[in-house]
Amino acid sequence: MRVVRSVAQLRAALRESGPGGVGLVPTMGALHEGHLSLIRAARRDHATVVVSVFVNPTQFTEAADLASYPRDEARDVELAASAGAGLVFAPDAAEMYPEGFATSVSVRGAITETLEGAMRGSAHFDGVATVVAKLLIAAAPDSAYFGAKDAQQVVVVRRMVADLGIPTRIVVCPTSREENGLARSSRNTRLSPEARTRALAIPGALRAVQRAVRDGERSATELHRLATEVLAGAGLRAEYFAFVHPDTLLPIEHVLGPTLCAVAARVDEVRLIDNVLLDPAEAPAR
Ligand code: PAF
Repeated sequence: MRVVRSVAQLRAALRESGPGGVGLVPTMGALHEGHLSLIRAARRDHATVVVSVFVNPTQFTEAADLASYPRDEARDVELAASAGAGLVFAPDAAEMYPEGFATSVSVRGAITETLEGAMRGSAHFDGVATVVAKLLIAAAPDSAYFGAKDAQQVVVVRRMVADLGIPTRIVVCPTSREENGLARSSRNTRLSPEARTRALAIPGALRAVQRAVRDGERSATELHRLATEVLAGAGLRAEYFAFVHPDTLLPIEHVLGPTLCAVAARVDEVRLIDNVLLDPAEAPAR
């Protein structure tokens, strides 16, 4: 396992890699089983796997969130190696944003204005799109791996890659969940045991919605009411609990085709997101 800190070192290391292609797993560190599943998927597809570890300041809209973001590079390197990565790219902020940096990649329209964009402001996805573009340019991977938990990020990255003609295949891997259903997130480490129990209402609400759709419910208003009840049972109120088209992210009133059901909620001060894809074709219509 090699750790490189500059784009020049990364490119030199990749020039030495053999055939079989390059898979990139972009991360902000604090690796957990979800990241490891992305690394394993990349390793199944490619001979060389690069994991980037960079806590990207420009995508944080709350200073406290950035300050408290967990960091443990030695542990990340060990875990990345155990899952099959051969290279870790761990630049500092000056390497990614050198003095005089003045460029931003901004994906416009509903896909960045809704959900996370509405809650966190447009700077969040500008930060994500800019850093992902820089990582894809730096590593020039054949494929890059993202988790379905960040569904809106995936839509934005796909749009950006298509618009800029970046020749990297974007691979989306299923959300990794703990046995109790909680979606794995680096932020989970900040949950107290009591908050962790209450957080289970988030996947609980999503499951309740899935069951209702399976039983024939189609009204987003009714499904929203049901989810709100489940969350309220744990003392939680969603920042959003939305039913949107999986590609355009435009709101959907009736679940008549594949629909992304996405939620963001704070448990104490920890902000969690999760989602499921609803498919009414799997259920009898009412
Ligand atoms: O999903 C993340 O961890 C980040 O948004 C990413 C893609 C690594 C960009 O900083």
